[in-house]
Amino acid sequence: MIYPIVKYGDPVLEQPAETVTEFDTPELHKLVEDMFESMYAAHGVGLAAPQIGIGRRISVIDPSAGEDHSQRLVLINPEVIKAEGGQNEEEGCLSLPGFREQVKRAKRVTVRARNVRGESFEITGEGLLARALLHETDHLKGRLFFSHVSPLKRDLIRRKVRKLAKAGEWG
Ligand code: NI
Repeated sequence: MIYPIVKYGDPVLEQPAETVTEFDTPELHKLVEDMFESMYAAHGVGLAAPQIGIGRRISVIDPSAGEDHSQRLVLINPEVIKAEGGQNEEEGCLSLPGFREQVKRAKRVTVRARNVRGESFEITGEGLLARALLHETDHLKGRLFFSHVSPLKRDLIRRKVRKLAKAGEWG
């Protein structure tokens, strides 16, 4: 099932998501599959459950955008346990379509998470994968990428979104 992507302005995106406590259930397997499907349909490389209106600590990443299933990552209850170096690249978000900003992130990141069966694992990523790991982990804390840009730029984005919403072109 393809869910519509929730856009900035919906409170679910700015609330910390709830920790998952039950694993390996048909419902969880289905949700994770639906998240991949919804992400591919939206042409994204990462998706967090709050972005489909579900406030649970689950995110999926596929740097290949559906080209190579071996790159699929499911991160449940992820925690960043190591972050090193720096990178400054443009970043966007499916919940803020049309907006891209330079965002400073760590260059190399290790995340500890659980898979859909509840098994704990660690994943280390560099470059784009490090960025995706941080971006998706942020989502589960209720943080959007623009919390990493200057207050001035953030206000500009907020004002533009408000204008679009008024014109009925947002949401
Ligand atoms: Ni995002």
